[in-house]
Amino acid sequence: MLATLKHKRVILAVSGGIAAYKSADLVRRLKDAGADVHVVMTAAAQQFITPLTMQALSGNPVHTELLDSAAEAGMGHIQLARWADLILVAPASADVLARLAQGIANDLLTTLWLATRAKRAVAPAMNQQMWAANVTQENLAKLAEQGVTIFTPAAGSQACGDVGMGRMPEAVDLAQRCADLFAVGTLTGKKVVITAGPTQEALDPVRYITNHSSGKMGFCLAEACVEAGASVTLISGPVHLPTPDRVQRIKVISAMDMLQASQQAVADGCDLFIATAAVADYRPATVAEQKIKKQGDNIVIELVKNPDIVATIAALPNKPFVLGFAAETERVEEYARGKLKNKNLDMIACNDVSRADIGFQSDDNAMTVFWQNGMAKLEKSPKTYIARQLVNLCAKQLQN
Ligand code: PMT
Repeated sequence: MLATLKHKRVILAVSGGIAAYKSADLVRRLKDAGADVHVVMTAAAQQFITPLTMQALSGNPVHTELLDSAAEAGMGHIQLARWADLILVAPASADVLARLAQGIANDLLTTLWLATRAKRAVAPAMNQQMWAANVTQENLAKLAEQGVTIFTPAAGSQACGDVGMGRMPEAVDLAQRCADLFAVGTLTGKKVVITAGPTQEALDPVRYITNHSSGKMGFCLAEACVEAGASVTLISGPVHLPTPDRVQRIKVISAMDMLQASQQAVADGCDLFIATAAVADYRPATVAEQKIKKQGDNIVIELVKNPDIVATIAALPNKPFVLGFAAETERVEEYARGKLKNKNLDMIACNDVSRADIGFQSDDNAMTVFWQNGMAKLEKSPKTYIARQLVNLCAKQLQN
């Protein structure tokens, strides 16, 4: 039942509270399930349980300080934030919840939280009155809006003598809830090929035609697929993003390069092909060998059609499951449905790129997804979260 935790990288962040003793048991259970665990402790947590205990149980050094040159020389805090598949704060005190909800980054735990793209979860534990306080509930609602999973506390008698909600769930329960976070829509053992970013179509040695794609959506999808257990090849046009951990990246420039790389990657084995790239539909008919000189008041450039990469892959006799994208500025859903059919796709995710707050360049997106017998609306949220939802939808269809 905990199989999805195998090889997962978990940061268990412990804040100050009597429930910290349960976190020691949780480390052991996560380790037993095959996870690699690093423990982060706040100063208050160390009043309840020692770093030595956590080090012995996790088999890794315990991280306690943000500004510690020795620790930074080993695995720095940004590296640690990037390393994780999951950050779980357990126990999460009312104080830590408030700081996380507000985006305050004044110690190691809260800084890691802001710097990560991993799944994030909290297991609140506190006195029942503090749990019931409006401000605590508002902070939890804010965290939930940000895509954080809340492992709701249990009711019962508390260390302070009160009876009510606020007891951290037992370690065995928390380990299962962590495993469940990776269970839905798993792509374990699947090979995924993703196109991302723009293409550049050269006019001459110094000029090209391109578009506004930053690659963010495609790179988030690559991360989400890795997180779901897939091996991922990411074919990207020119963007300024670092290659996600555990992803094989192939850098391309033009649509023709991207087509060739996609055909090769699919021939090497592919269960799921995701076409996020904003591929130029046309390229200059000829590429001038020398810089084009300024001429009269007008210049005419002849363009020829580029091959359609996603349609080419979807036309293969042994085609993978194909998720295409549609970037539209009007009649978004109507045009997307047309592309689903005309390009022989299995699924299409459309976004309204006339909106400034989503789509190109933005960290957020909002999508409507169509497949043969269904649809889903993904409300505006960070691209990391949209990507996970898309991966889950694909995984469900693949399982069918
Ligand atoms: O990169 P970001 O800044 O994060 O922005 C994300 C995004 C807006 C680029 C992304 O969410 C998105 O919508 N990608 C698709 C962009 C696009 O080119 O859409 P389209 O409607 O023109 O093309 C439809 C589909 O055909 C797409 O899957 C596209 O990759 C594919 N296509 C298009 C032309 C072509 N010659 N070959 C293709 O494979």
